[in-house]
Amino acid sequence: MIIAIDGPSGAGKSTIAKLLAKELSIDYIDTGAMYRAVAVKAIRCGTDIDDGAALDGLLESTDIDLESQKVLLDGEDVSGLIRTEEVSMKASRISAIPAVRHKLVALQREMGARKSVVMDGRDIGSNVFPGAERKFFITASPEVRAERRLKELVERGEDAAFETVLADIEKRDWDDSNRPLNPLMQTEDAILVETDELGIPEVLARVIGHIKQ
Ligand code: DC
Repeated sequence: MIIAIDGPSGAGKSTIAKLLAKELSIDYIDTGAMYRAVAVKAIRCGTDIDDGAALDGLLESTDIDLESQKVLLDGEDVSGLIRTEEVSMKASRISAIPAVRHKLVALQREMGARKSVVMDGRDIGSNVFPGAERKFFITASPEVRAERRLKELVERGEDAAFETVLADIEKRDWDDSNRPLNPLMQTEDAILVETDELGIPEVLARVIGHIKQ
């Protein structure tokens, strides 16, 4: 069984996907973490992320894997390194490059072919697994998502202004929704969950309710 959870950044997809996977005793696959790991590699290697050919070369010597909630880049656990604002912005840009998408989408399909999974991202229901048994589109207004993100950053001791976080979220929304290849979109068969007014337990209950129907 594949459960696809798509939506914009900061909507709470990964929190819900993780809890749902635990509840169903199946694996959780965070596809955004895979794009983030490629961004880390490009930053480290000084690769120009707008240069498709250079990225192609970089990908040939890049190994990305997910192992019990850890993101492995060439065997190294980079789970802590992938959550910075710099990596978020670069991951969004890198995810528009066809060579990157082809490699990661193929990996994601392999991961889902082997076992039941909850997979979250932008194009899971529309592209990676269009035949997924259940599809959810989880979203919230940019302002609510920016507030949540700001709270997270402050809790981690990072300095940030609401306006900057909101501007970053709006830019990523636009870029993720307007790239030509596999853009962020809600498919017709996806269940829409708007989380502005909902807490995590309520969102989870709603999603589980649909799955058990
Ligand atoms: O979900 P996230 O914020 O960790 O994802 C980081 C970036 O990766 C996001 O801005 C767009 C890209 N992404 C994608 O293009 N397709 C996916 N399935 C998942 C993420």
